[in-house]
Amino acid sequence: MATRSILAGCGAYLPDRVIDNNELAKLVDTSDDWIKQRTGIEKRHVVADGELTSDLAVKAADRALVRANIPASDIDLIIVATTTPDRTFPATATKVQADLGITSGAAFDIQAVCAGFVYALSVADNLLRAGQSRRALVIGAETFTRLLDWTDRGTCVLFGDGAGAIILDSYEIEPAATQFGVLSTHLHSDGRYRDILYVDGGPSMNSKTGHVRMSGKEVFRHAVSKLGSVINEALVANNLTSDDIDWLVPHQANKRIIESMAKKLNMPMDKVICSIDRHANTSAASVPLALTEGVSDGRIVDGDLVLFEAIGGGLAWGAGLVRMGYPK
Ligand code: UT7
Repeated sequence: MATRSILAGCGAYLPDRVIDNNELAKLVDTSDDWIKQRTGIEKRHVVADGELTSDLAVKAADRALVRANIPASDIDLIIVATTTPDRTFPATATKVQADLGITSGAAFDIQAVCAGFVYALSVADNLLRAGQSRRALVIGAETFTRLLDWTDRGTCVLFGDGAGAIILDSYEIEPAATQFGVLSTHLHSDGRYRDILYVDGGPSMNSKTGHVRMSGKEVFRHAVSKLGSVINEALVANNLTSDDIDWLVPHQANKRIIESMAKKLNMPMDKVICSIDRHANTSAASVPLALTEGVSDGRIVDGDLVLFEAIGGGLAWGAGLVRMGYPK
């Protein structure tokens, strides 16, 4: 017998307010055409005044718990991947824990920017496999628009807000059926590139929240090569080929990057969950938001093999392979 982390359910939440490209063209020198052509983005959800990252996270978590049919009281690990915590401390995960009425187990945040969800998935999977936790709530939640400089057209058109959550349930599995749940995760970072995508503020630097700064072209180039290589690493580690993958659920930063990964995998775009047109880049929330969309509309079903990938500031990047649902 071996312990595996089964993805028992997922859920998502998007704030009500939607801003389309034409509205942004009134703020900065841009156009719907440019944004659509260069990124695939048409609109994005944006939080209301007073709406916090933890508010989005709790709503996504509630929906994931319902779908998994697991009571909140069973959760003994909460990891929130976020770059936009409610406060510098304590961890947003502790607010989520309290709002869900959970009073035991561990709750903490992970900061790996757009790769945060894949990082959180990996940490949770390893804690479950080691037997330290039994049932984990893994959330990617962002109010990323609060970090934007609304005069910088190079960044302000790219991002949105939202949250996605999954439940991981540790499950004793026969060795013959170990190809269920989280098969593997693969994490990388290279701090030499920390200055091509960063926020120009922070508690130890200048006590300001700061704004996103990005050398878009450079990040794009690294994204294509590093995501391509980590996808390959995940396939090789599991002795799989791209033909075995049912769905690619990629980080939603740029449609051209997503298309390039699909091409590398020789996968048609109808096997890729793409929500960038409506959500833009929601950083750590983008992968679980897209996953939830694919599950909710019936495209992704139990037994499907799903490949996650993401890259962001750091640079930090990673991939994960998950066979959906419990073994039959
Ligand atoms: O989630 C973290 C990971 N992030 C990413 O993966 C983002 C990666 N980068 C990208 O997606 C793309 O590089 C961008 C979408 C950010 C930019 O697209 P690009 O094709 O690389 O454009 P560029 O930065 O080379 O800019 C081309 C032109 C420039 O004008 P000139 O110098 O050629 O006259 C820009 O000033 O487009 C201009 N431009 C814009 N024009 C209209 C830049 N932003 C805008 C804009 N509207 N919003």
